Amino acid sequence: MTIATQHAAGAVAQRPLTAAERFGVIDRPDLSFTPAVARETEHLYERVKQFIPAFEWPVYAPYVAAINRLKKERGAVILAHNYQTPEIFHCVADIVGDSLSLARDATRVDADIIVQCGVHFMAETSKLLNPEKTVLIPDSKAGCSLSDSITGADVRLLKERYPGVPVVTYVNTSADVKAETDICCTSSNVLAVVESLDSDTVLCIPDEYLAMNVAKQTNKKILTWKGHCEVHERFTANELLAYKEAHPGIEIIGHPECHPDVIAVCDFSGSTSGMINYVRDHRPQRVLLVTECSMASNIQAELPDVDFVKPCNLCPHMKRITLPKILDSLVTMTEEVTVDPAIADRARLAVERMVNLKQ
Ligand code: 13P
Ligand code: SF4
Repeated sequence: MTIATQHAAGAVAQRPLTAAERFGVIDRPDLSFTPAVARETEHLYERVKQFIPAFEWPVYAPYVAAINRLKKERGAVILAHNYQTPEIFHCVADIVGDSLSLARDATRVDADIIVQCGVHFMAETSKLLNPEKTVLIPDSKAGCSLSDSITGADVRLLKERYPGVPVVTYVNTSADVKAETDICCTSSNVLAVVESLDSDTVLCIPDEYLAMNVAKQTNKKILTWKGHCEVHERFTANELLAYKEAHPGIEIIGHPECHPDVIAVCDFSGSTSGMINYVRDHRPQRVLLVTECSMASNIQAELPDVDFVKPCNLCPHMKRITLPKILDSLVTMTEEVTVDPAIADRARLAVERMVNLKQ
């Protein structure tokens, strides 16, 4: 649907209707902590009571109740990444997961509106895979240091420098970069993606450490870029060795965005969901997750018998997403995620190739 706008010179231009115009803005709900709100949210508080003291729940509960009511009214679904805070992850999200599972689930949701609780590239990926749906992000400034490390123009230069070398791009990138890419990958399928390509040399960008980690598992020559995750690059092997000394028997599991020296000290490495599944399946007595700190809290709520040692590195971008901003999104139908039509088809192809890859 479009709307005609009249310019000063008299020319009439068509612009698409905004989500607020299509769905309407509603009145902000009352946020009092009433007995009804207490009853409605009681079962949800059980899931997060380890992290939110009882005296603070009256501040959270009205938001949780209002978001859950409003998302039903709007016919919206909330997708949340494993790094979201416990009150988002356990109390308002409909689907949680790692980047790959969220991208896959985004193609299966039966709702007109997706509210993406994660960083911008995740919302953009959902929009690429659902061009007809309305995708909202509660704060569009939720970026990513990896995504910021490279532009489409950089990839064009790399392709000039290495003609014929296939380009595998981490999903933590903008649509502009994905559009220059043969196929995307995430931390959970990077090896399968690299191995699927009919070439002895592969460009695996922009995460240098992810590329170095995958290079250890394949015979292909891996070329990369100097992008880093500002959360995972802070972990050091010495720090982890000190934890091992202080807690004999502790299991250490790390995300492949960490430096290979860090991964070498880990007992297991995998995507955020891979790490969660490892803890679920192995039930270590004591474990350290070498990743963003909220994830340990999210899984700790489910596995109270496991002792989580937490070096607390937070992702400032993930933490931009809050209950008040999610509520605002649903009230005002902002911030709507759009992708430039000039690049959308090519970027979508790279993501679809990854999503459809048989593993
Ligand atoms: P996952 O794909 O493992 O969920 O990782 C996403 C991310 O941003 C890690 O920092
Ligand atoms: Fe990006 Fe790192 Fe934050 Fe993940 S944790 S969103 S890779 S900055």
